[in-house]
Amino acid sequence: MILFKEFIVALVSGLILAISSFLWKLAAHRRRFKDLPKPPHSFLFGHLALFSSVARQLPGKIPIAVAINRIQAQFNLPDLWYLDLWPLADPFLITGDLAIASQFLNDYPRHPIVLKQALQPLVGGTRGLVSPDLSEWHSSRTMIRTAFSITNVQRFVPTMARYSMQLREALLKRATIGNPFPMIGPLEKWGADLTFHFLLGKDTGVQRGGWGAEANTQVQALVAAADHPFSVNPWTLRQQKKARNLCQDYVRQMISKALKDTLQRDQPVGHDQFVSVIDSLVTKYREEYPGRTQWDADTLVQHVDTLATMFLAADVSSMVLTYIFCHVAQDRAVAAELRKEHNSVFPGNMQATLETICRNPSKIKELPYTTAVIKESMRLRPPGLSGTTAPNGHTVNYKGTEHSLDGCFLLTNLFRLQYNDDYVPSPLTFNPSRWLPHPSAELADSWRPFQRGQHSCMGENMMMPGLVTALLLTVRDVDIALAYDDGDICLPPELGGMAYMEGNFAAKPAKGLPVTVTKVAH
Ligand code: HEM
Repeated sequence: MILFKEFIVALVSGLILAISSFLWKLAAHRRRFKDLPKPPHSFLFGHLALFSSVARQLPGKIPIAVAINRIQAQFNLPDLWYLDLWPLADPFLITGDLAIASQFLNDYPRHPIVLKQALQPLVGGTRGLVSPDLSEWHSSRTMIRTAFSITNVQRFVPTMARYSMQLREALLKRATIGNPFPMIGPLEKWGADLTFHFLLGKDTGVQRGGWGAEANTQVQALVAAADHPFSVNPWTLRQQKKARNLCQDYVRQMISKALKDTLQRDQPVGHDQFVSVIDSLVTKYREEYPGRTQWDADTLVQHVDTLATMFLAADVSSMVLTYIFCHVAQDRAVAAELRKEHNSVFPGNMQATLETICRNPSKIKELPYTTAVIKESMRLRPPGLSGTTAPNGHTVNYKGTEHSLDGCFLLTNLFRLQYNDDYVPSPLTFNPSRWLPHPSAELADSWRPFQRGQHSCMGENMMMPGLVTALLLTVRDVDIALAYDDGDICLPPELGGMAYMEGNFAAKPAKGLPVTVTKVAH
């Protein structure tokens, strides 16, 4: 009996201690925000309640960055402000200011939570490009750099053009059927064909139903896993993890086999031929360990993780192209201007255009309006950027006030930066001409859909010409019209209207952009 009483006393004292320690930490944490720029703040919930109420007003799968941008607009916040999501996350320090964005993105590495909770669980590993060890991450970037060089990418342009011809065929087939369909479908396959070939050095036939089609299904399932609804139910979590592991095993085994096969092959890539990412990794390994025909386990796992990270990039490319078509579909004048430019630089016949590209790949650089359409679309609908973290003691100066960066999740709000009317006049208008003949320094500098600095996209060199070939080989022959239903959710235009963004990895237009396609009569 006495023992039981002592147990109860100890339990109650422990509880009181835990509650007081939590309250003490809570008070200390919330006090930190007292005089900082922020939306209305609650002692008990910080900004958790506010964030969830704003997110609840938006459709379920909207990117977190859009909800954050909504809060900034709703409370008319300055371009440096705080969001207090403790105890769920570190305080967010959010900016839409160009100089501060440069500091956040150029000077600092990814926040560890981005690696641990977003990238590593998708990749299914912790090495190579998703390694927390900065020297390993850096050496992985260095090892694949040659594959992304301008000369090498130029050699890949004819291959990208052939995949864009396959996309054209798929769209023309849809035109004969006539029914609405989600545009994301054929574009996902196009993006996968380009990316898989660039990484593996061979045609995996995604659009043609080859083995790459199954690999793409698994990659898409992995990306979808990033948007599974949050659950506390251990059974649901276990099932989600199991499904994700199955996709990862498939993708990782495929990469591992490709790495082993390429190392076994003794045929070197020709002097002036395109070198895939996997070939460049093999060349580096052979230089380091002459005569070896087997990977050492450590290097193999590092490369599998690096390649798995880049397989996910196929999805970003298709998201970008879907939004480009979305903008072109809504503006007949833009479609007409694109056709005019394509007809003035290339032959009217698509087969002859393809042959011209194969003979002279750099000719696609002669399409400034097409490039401007791509840039303008990416300005309005950018994929997200990762948050970064600064070493202790670093500060940022905003309008004369120093702000400590200690313990903050530093987030560049791309929707604000690229829509900021300090840098872009009439920012909500889709106006490709603002890029021509040359963009203003502010417009060029605030455009960051490929990131800049430490974690800048290595695929930019490759995807920009890839997107140009896709437009060049389709727009003159196909007319696209949006086919949303009257009852579909429509958000304000700055959020994309009916084609609002869905998903957190590479947000796509709602319902995958329903469209109808008609063949253009020449
Ligand atoms: C239009 C399509 C694409 C867009 C908009 C895009 C955008 C981005 C962005 C925003 C980042 C920085 C991510 C971060 O902040 O952590 C990034 C990084 C990267 N992307 Fe892309 N990407 C695209 C396509 C590709 C493709 C096709 C590849 C490869 C074949 C690729 C390879 C990379 C690599 C290697 C990194 C660097 C990762 C690191 O430093 O850890 N990207 N990309």
